[in-house]
Amino acid sequence: MSVTQADFRKAMGCFATGVTVITVDFEGEVHGMTANAFTSVSLDPLLVLVCVDHKARTHAQLHAKKRFGVNMLAESQRAISEYYARPARTHERAEQEAGARFERTPHGTPVLHGALAYLECRLHTAQDAGDHTIFIAEVEDVVVREGDPLLYFQGKYRSVGPALGT
Ligand SMILES: Cc1cc2nc3c(=O)[nH]c(=O)nc-3n(C[C@H](O)[C@H](O)[C@H](O)COP(=O)(O)O)c2cc1C
Repeated sequence: MSVTQADFRKAMGCFATGVTVITVDFEGEVHGMTANAFTSVSLDPLLVLVCVDHKARTHAQLHAKKRFGVNMLAESQRAISEYYARPARTHERAEQEAGARFERTPHGTPVLHGALAYLECRLHTAQDAGDHTIFIAEVEDVVVREGDPLLYFQGKYRSVGPALGT
């Protein structure tokens, strides 16, 4: 039995996730990429990982800058997810088209306004894996806000339903 890429995508789509935008300072501009292949890795030290396609522009930028932000999107930020999933040449219309506004950390890493949580990350290890690279990064700072997340399940955006019991 051989599993096709379509089968694999369908199966992986059953794993509901949140949605992040990975942000990097690129020559003074904010570059962002929508990513859900993101997870925590270790508590001591604090490590996370994100898997990035070799073809994504973000791939070269993470290697070059070695520092990036992980912005966990709030329910109201679907347009921002869609905007940063498009392979646009520049992201200069992010505010007009998707309402994305940023401030900078002392390290210059872009932080998305209104995100549910933000992690400032410094590259620890990069491991090639097939057509993606696993970027493992140390978490240097976090900001957590109140609100509901944007979710992604079976190729569609969703919002959280009621909690199941207590
Ligand atoms: C919900 C969602 C999740 C995504 N997750 C990832 C991911 O984890 N890794 C990845 O490389 N691309 C992911 N993508 C695709 C990238 O966002 C897309 O290819 C983007 O255009 C890459 O931008 P860049 O070339 O400017 O880096 C995702 C797209 C969507 C809509």
